[in-house]
Amino acid sequence: MKVTTRWVIIGCRGQLGTALVRQLEADPESEILAAVDLPELDVADPEAVVRLFDGLGGDADVVVNAAAFTHVDRCEREPESARRANADAPGLLARACDRVGCGLVHVSTDYVFSGEIDPEQARPQAYREDDPTGPNSEYGRSKLAGEERVREISGEFLIVRTSWVFGRGRNFVAAILGQAESRHRGEAKGALRVVDDQCGRPTYAVDLAGGIRSLCGLEAVGTYHLAGGGEASWWELARATLDSAGYTDVVVDRIRTSDLDLDAPRPAYSVLDCSKAAEQGVRLRDWRAALDAYLGSEDSPVQLQALS
Ligand SMILES: NC(=O)c1ccc[n+]([C@@H]2O[C@H](COP(=O)([O-])OP(=O)(O)OC[C@H]3O[C@@H](n4cnc5c(N)ncnc54)[C@H](OP(=O)(O)O)[C@@H]3O)[C@@H](O)[C@H]2O)c1
Repeated sequence: MKVTTRWVIIGCRGQLGTALVRQLEADPESEILAAVDLPELDVADPEAVVRLFDGLGGDADVVVNAAAFTHVDRCEREPESARRANADAPGLLARACDRVGCGLVHVSTDYVFSGEIDPEQARPQAYREDDPTGPNSEYGRSKLAGEERVREISGEFLIVRTSWVFGRGRNFVAAILGQAESRHRGEAKGALRVVDDQCGRPTYAVDLAGGIRSLCGLEAVGTYHLAGGGEASWWELARATLDSAGYTDVVVDRIRTSDLDLDAPRPAYSVLDCSKAAEQGVRLRDWRAALDAYLGSEDSPVQLQALS
């Protein structure tokens, strides 16, 4: 007889958290014991974490930490807040999970890598799980510190690095659609300007949630890369978004990262090699197909706009 898996989702109203909760609610073999986010639970507050675990009474099988301070430029300006949410909180969760003997899935990022392109190399190489890290932003440093806290406590926990996430909520695809719409309404003018010198793997939160559940089903432990298939520049992602959503007339100029006055540096090539997960049969679909699915979903800003 199949036993029900009992889950706890931290960061349940973020892009990934929302997708996970929906999938688990629809799965007869899963039960959500708790789904929490700010403001009701600050996962960087040690007493709040103790209260959460006391309330669970040792019944949880897997805790997924989908909570993070994900505003990359704000992390640069507010490094203490970044450390609290992205490094201290995973440490607290890992300790609590270890104490009660339940699994932990901690989600991390491609920004733990430098993403610098070696001019000697003909083609940059995608990052494998055991490649040397070297974050160049506070966001990346704080997320790497979070991974390290988790690993220090147990090698049996699952760390999933992902990249360029879009789903329900704040994300690049939604921002591009908002800018296109403001041009259609005549509230803004001129071409959009999007960088074409950063390359990564766009990832649909729904696919990521499915991949995480598959890895959990396989009882995977250690570090895994999990991101959408293919790779893109932000310009390519913007163009594909506009074309798929019917904003073909909106012009997007290609610019360089150095043209923007950003607080945090960005990796130029942070493509994750996802072959370790693929070898176990866990592979996310190509980002273009995933983008179309997102744009047609109830979470798409295009659908939300049509309803408003
Ligand atoms: N978004 C990306 O492009 C991307 C790329 C690579 C990796 N990741 C990683 O993937 C994971 C999921 O990202 P996501 O895109 O789903 O993030 P998201 O949409 O920003 O959601 C994160 C959630 O965590 C909450 N949160 C922040 N600090 C918290 C705290 N101290 N206690 C409790 N909850 C807190 C946030 O609340 P507020 O909104 O109120 O702050 C938000 O609801 C994160 O680990 C992130 O680092 C994301």
